[in-house]
Amino acid sequence: MKVLLTGANGKVGRAAAAALMAAGHELTACDVARHHFDRTLPGEPAYQQADLTDAGQAYAVVRGQEVVVHAAAIPEPTHNPPQVVFQNNLMGTFNVLEASVSFGVSRFVNISSETVPGFFFPQRPFLPQYAPVDEEHPAQPQDPYALAKLFGEQLCDAATQRSDLRCITLRPSHVQHEGNYERNLGAQVRDAAVLSPNLWSYIDADDLADAIVLAVQSDLPGHEVFYIASPDNVGGRDFAQILRQYYGDQIELRPLARPDAGGISIEKARRLLGYAPTRSWRDYLDEGGRALSG
Ligand SMILES: NC(=O)c1ccc[n+]([C@@H]2O[C@H](COP(=O)([O-])OP(=O)(O)OC[C@H]3O[C@@H](n4cnc5c(N)ncnc54)[C@H](O)[C@@H]3O)[C@@H](O)[C@H]2O)c1
Repeated sequence: MKVLLTGANGKVGRAAAAALMAAGHELTACDVARHHFDRTLPGEPAYQQADLTDAGQAYAVVRGQEVVVHAAAIPEPTHNPPQVVFQNNLMGTFNVLEASVSFGVSRFVNISSETVPGFFFPQRPFLPQYAPVDEEHPAQPQDPYALAKLFGEQLCDAATQRSDLRCITLRPSHVQHEGNYERNLGAQVRDAAVLSPNLWSYIDADDLADAIVLAVQSDLPGHEVFYIASPDNVGGRDFAQILRQYYGDQIELRPLARPDAGGISIEKARRLLGYAPTRSWRDYLDEGGRALSG
């Protein structure tokens, strides 16, 4: 299929581009950065530069595509003024969705975030009501990043209601690849007391890329939201035990798919998308949280 991938230069985009090309799709990669002027090598996708907060540029890149994977965003709220994060992320999603509806795109894959429920960047901290957190958990974000992601999901609801566009939203957990596993997860592998709002969850970039390919090829109707995380937790510990140890009875424990599950449920993605992650932090880190290749 003819697929447009926004945010193609980023952490998620690079892994998704490789997986989409390997799956045989005719890919156009898109990002805000200017492309190089070197020859395109065999196996490299076409490239279009666009700032997607500009509607004209969004329409120009979406035109002629069958599927849009929208991963372009500022990926968290702490390094830019709030209005910059909110405006960039929400208007980028709005423009790409509007263009997708206008040009009769058949499938829109919306890369949202595990932060949507709100307990990642709040001004007034709160905990998940239950774990593993699933798609039914209430969303009450306070910060501009998660708010823009939640509103982006609502824009997908509206788009599927007013057109034939079908949407799949993926909410990835914290994305890891060979180059950042140790930096991001090493300390938590060593010590479960290094807490994270996602309750020891993470996602391998290549497993996320596989989920993106599944979403691109899915024939699910309407708009469905899926958490995408790795099946095990950071450190591979007994989840029920560490939840009790560090949160007491503040978070209700719900049934686990496996004893070393993470704090995010991927059961809906397994059921409806056929998501079957194969990677683990153990492929990159030893039990002491140090890189295996280092
Ligand atoms: N990294 C994570 O842990 C994580 C977790 C959950 C969700 N996400 C989401 O996944 C997506 C990709 O994140 P990432 O980690 O690859 O971030 P990244 O910063 O590595 O990549 C994002 C890319 O989007 C591009 N971009 C931003 N604004 C743009 C605009 N206005 N027009 C065109 N391109 C624009 C950037 O240039 C960048 O290349 C984002 O939507 C992010 O919110 C990331």
